[in-house]
Amino acid sequence: MNRRPLIAGNWKMHLTVSEAVRLAQAAAQTCGACPDRDVMVAPAFTALTKVREALKDTSLLVAAQNVAWEREGAYTGEVSPVMLQDIGVHFAIIGHSERRQIFGEDDAMINCRLRGALAGGIQPVLCVGETLEERETGRTISVLEQQMRQDLQGVSADKMHQIVLAYEPVWAIGTGKTATTEQAQEAHAFLRRFLTEEYEKNIADGVRILYGGSVKPENIDNLMAQPDIDGALVGGAALQAESFDRIIRFR
Ligand code: PGA
Repeated sequence: MNRRPLIAGNWKMHLTVSEAVRLAQAAAQTCGACPDRDVMVAPAFTALTKVREALKDTSLLVAAQNVAWEREGAYTGEVSPVMLQDIGVHFAIIGHSERRQIFGEDDAMINCRLRGALAGGIQPVLCVGETLEERETGRTISVLEQQMRQDLQGVSADKMHQIVLAYEPVWAIGTGKTATTEQAQEAHAFLRRFLTEEYEKNIADGVRILYGGSVKPENIDNLMAQPDIDGALVGGAALQAESFDRIIRFR
């Protein structure tokens, strides 16, 4: 199955609006030169509107870094799928390990966000991944299975093609420690097997699974050579135009 590669930059809590627009324009330029792959950026909420406006004539995709489950209401600090649609944003990262670890989002909440996003026409980039302790005690696969089962609860087969998955081992995020290509491929293969068993092979074969965790210009080519790695979710290295450019142009 030929899955279209997707390189996504997660800008986290970085960049002013003007810095974000500039960086997005650089990414859009690279994206225009690489028609065989998708490129996405996820700016902070404050920069979403301007980045979206600046990019409207390009093929660069724009994502929010999170999304609420209700359309509107008393949810201080949250942004709804309707609000994202209103500014032309159709993707959102959900379940990033920083949301899980720092802000206490659990799988039940992530499932709520995911289903709310789908209902509101927002395509989720769902992140899963194990901690160092979980890996060292041999629980990587069981942790991934539990996250997948809970995060995707109630998501029907006909919605699965709207979801992008990201495998992000927590111990590799922002640490400079990348999973080996074998470790990453093994986890990705497990995620695809899970989708085959829970849904069907056709669906599993179509879902893009990104790797995230210290992706750099130096390791992107090897990662992308793995059969089940369909792209990357890039943090630190997406904040510099040159390094993100090289990652987008993986070979
Ligand atoms: P990193 O972050 O590339 O800086 O490790 C990845 C992520 O958190 O998505």
